[in-house]
Amino acid sequence: MSEFERVLISKEEIDRRTTALAEELNRDYAGKNPLFIGILKGSIFFFSDLLQKLQIEAEMDFMAISSYGAGTTSSGYVRIIKDLDRHIDGRHVVIVEDMVDSGTTLAHLKEVLATREPASIAICALLSKPERRRTPVDIDYLGFEVPDEFVVGYGLDYAEKYRVLPDVRILDRSVYEK
Ligand code: IMP
Ligand code: MG
Repeated sequence: MSEFERVLISKEEIDRRTTALAEELNRDYAGKNPLFIGILKGSIFFFSDLLQKLQIEAEMDFMAISSYGAGTTSSGYVRIIKDLDRHIDGRHVVIVEDMVDSGTTLAHLKEVLATREPASIAICALLSKPERRRTPVDIDYLGFEVPDEFVVGYGLDYAEKYRVLPDVRILDRSVYEK
C-alpha cells in the first residue's frame, strides 16, 4: 500500500504558478531591492525556484522557526530557532513560507518583523488551507489553495520525512493515524 493518497500538485503546475508569481513580484518590486526571507526548511524548494525566476535586483536571508512538534497540527507556539543575519529597517521584505494553515506562525512572525521597522512586509506562500484558519493573515502572493488534508513533498514534511519529493502529495491517513 502506498504512503500517499495521491499527487495533489504536479511539478509542472508548481513551475507554471511560480513563473506567474515571479512576474507579479518583478512588477511590484522593480527598483526596490526587496529582501526575500525564506522560512526554513519547508520553503526551500519554493524559495529557490521562485527567486531564480526573478528579473529584478533582490537579496535573500533565512529564518528558522518552530511551531510544530512531530504531529500534524500546530501547537500555536512560535519560537525563533535561527534569526536573520542582517537588519531589515527601511527594507522591503517578502516572507516566503511553505504553508499557511491555522495562520498562527505567520501572524506572529509578521508582528515580530514589524517591530524592526521595515519599509513594507509582504507574505508569499506556496500553499494555504483556508478552512483551517484561526488567525487571519493577508497572503499577498499565493501559489495554491489546498483542501484540509495533510500534504508533503516539495519541501513539506511529516516528522522530517518526504521533503525531497518533487511534487505535493496528500499523505495517507494510515501514516499518522495509528
Ligand atoms: P500554522 O501556524 O498553523 O499556519 O502552521 C504553519 C506551518 O505548519 C507550516 O509552516 C508548515 O510547516 C506546517 N504545516 C501545516 N500544514 C501542513 C501540511 O499539510 N503539511 C506539512 N506541513 C504543514
Ligand atoms: Mg514549516
